[in-house]
Amino acid sequence: MKRVYVLAAVLAVAIGSSAAMALDAPAAIKDRQDFYKDLGKSVKGLGEELKSSSPNVAELKKFAAAIDASAPKIPALFPAGTGPEAGIKTGAKAEIWQKPDEFKKDAADMAAAAHALNVAAQSGDVAAVKDAAGKLGEACKACHQTFREKEH
Ligand code: HEC
Repeated sequence: MKRVYVLAAVLAVAIGSSAAMALDAPAAIKDRQDFYKDLGKSVKGLGEELKSSSPNVAELKKFAAAIDASAPKIPALFPAGTGPEAGIKTGAKAEIWQKPDEFKKDAADMAAAAHALNVAAQSGDVAAVKDAAGKLGEACKACHQTFREKEH
């Protein structure tokens, strides 16, 4: 049984994430929420560091690099079958699959903002990091406003 599951998971990865989610929507939704929790922690950590009178640049670099590495993974976290129809607690609205181009654009905008943040952080320019962090926050919000349920 276990071997079958592992094989199925390997095949799903090989075939593409939509197959993986069709196999196990609850696991996919949990992975997605865990991903966002981690992302949220990095953004919060960065924000707290920026509030300090002398932010630790090494910490800023670490958080910004993590955010930049995570951002491009977002579109693949939303395969068909993992929306409200899955019957599981999720903040993912049906609109994600109804307006895929708009959703992908919001994800791409956030990835661009995350990358700009990382470039600023690696340069060690705290003022530029602050500016970029503000833009990143806007990009998170833009997607949440359209595509995420407030309560779930
Ligand atoms: C392209 C759309 C999109 C972008 C960009 C986006 N999110 Fe989200 N976010 C979602 C959706 C949809 C959910 C609901 C996922 C679910 O419940 O299955 C979510 C959920 C979350 C959650 C809740 C996770 C949980 O279940 O506890 C956090 C925290 C979060 N996002 C933080 C962020 C942060 C911080 C950013 C920006 C750095 C961001 N998100 C950018 C769409 C997005």
